[in-house]
Amino acid sequence: MKVAPFRIEKYYERYEFTTGYMLSSSDCESRTIRELLSFEPDASDRLLELRCGYTEPPGSLELREAIAAIYDTIHADEVVVTSCAEEAIFLLYHVLLGPGDQAVVETPCYESALQLARSTGAEVREWRRSYEGRWTHDLGSLGRLVQPGTRVLYVNQPHNPTGTLMDRATYDAVVELAQDRGVTLFCDEVYRELEHDPNDRLPAACDRDERAVSLGSVSKSYGLPGLRTGWIATHDDKLRRAVIDLKHYTTICASAPSEQLSALALRHRGELLARNSAIVRRNLGLLDGFFSRHAEAFEWVRPVASPIGFPRVHGLGDVDRLCERLAEAGVLLLPGSVYDEPGHVRFGFGRANLPEALAVLEGALPPC
Ligand SMILES: Cc1ncc(COP(=O)(O)O)c(C=O)c1O
Repeated sequence: MKVAPFRIEKYYERYEFTTGYMLSSSDCESRTIRELLSFEPDASDRLLELRCGYTEPPGSLELREAIAAIYDTIHADEVVVTSCAEEAIFLLYHVLLGPGDQAVVETPCYESALQLARSTGAEVREWRRSYEGRWTHDLGSLGRLVQPGTRVLYVNQPHNPTGTLMDRATYDAVVELAQDRGVTLFCDEVYRELEHDPNDRLPAACDRDERAVSLGSVSKSYGLPGLRTGWIATHDDKLRRAVIDLKHYTTICASAPSEQLSALALRHRGELLARNSAIVRRNLGLLDGFFSRHAEAFEWVRPVASPIGFPRVHGLGDVDRLCERLAEAGVLLLPGSVYDEPGHVRFGFGRANLPEALAVLEGALPPC
């Protein structure tokens, strides 16, 4: 298998743990294990008594039940737990795709969604959205991209890096197109439940269609990336079986303590989401102020979900160089070149220390 370097992760590997303020993170403020354990009176004892043995390949029943509760029609047996969403992307593509197949991927996107599809040897077509088009979706072009050999259609809603969300009519049309053409809809929903207005929430793909796959994670909306827990949920029994069979070659099963802590966290996901949504709402207000003070340098399609957004940058020179200089000054933005959008930067506004991070950015910005 050959796979292109993961530019987002390489960038963060270089800067994330040495730069004072992270202002581009894609996740929400995390929690301590102590905070998680405080959710239930016997949680500490249960964790201390847990044996560090292997767990079931599809994931512990306790965790699969907590995950199934997120959906309307999914039973615990219809969930496969993975060691983070990244593993699930790898497994699903390698189960469904090979040389001679085609995949359509909504871009710009989290890079593994594109590169791991390519790593299977399949032909990958991009359903590309643009800032000029206000990141809207062109259903006509999707209809042309999906061909008889297309096996998978990957979409990511809510969307990394723009923080935008399809409207319901567009989403319904995408689901129907996948159904009509016999394509597996692979919907990356790692930002689901962090819509800024809960009325905008889209139904999970696995609840809409028998063959569709919903991808989830505790990393983003719930703010627990250190647990490395992800999953897929689908009614498609054959597909789940094939994913587990391939997982025997990657991780066999997830980490036992992470499974237990993830189940505990998801049973209390309402509390996690309430705090994370409050942080996101406050920070978005502060960013509105920042962008109006620097309107000549930044403009964006204001995010409606997730803790991330993707403004266009004007008059500050080369954006890669700008981000390097800002990192040296102590604040980390993510250059859009890692998404093949070199005129943009990614902001993340899910962290509690955004006011301090923004102050450092404001002090370090070159004149426009
Ligand atoms: C859209 C999207 N999907 C999947 C992932 C992977 O998440 P995880 O931390 O569970 O591997 C990310 C992480 O940034 C993401 O942004």
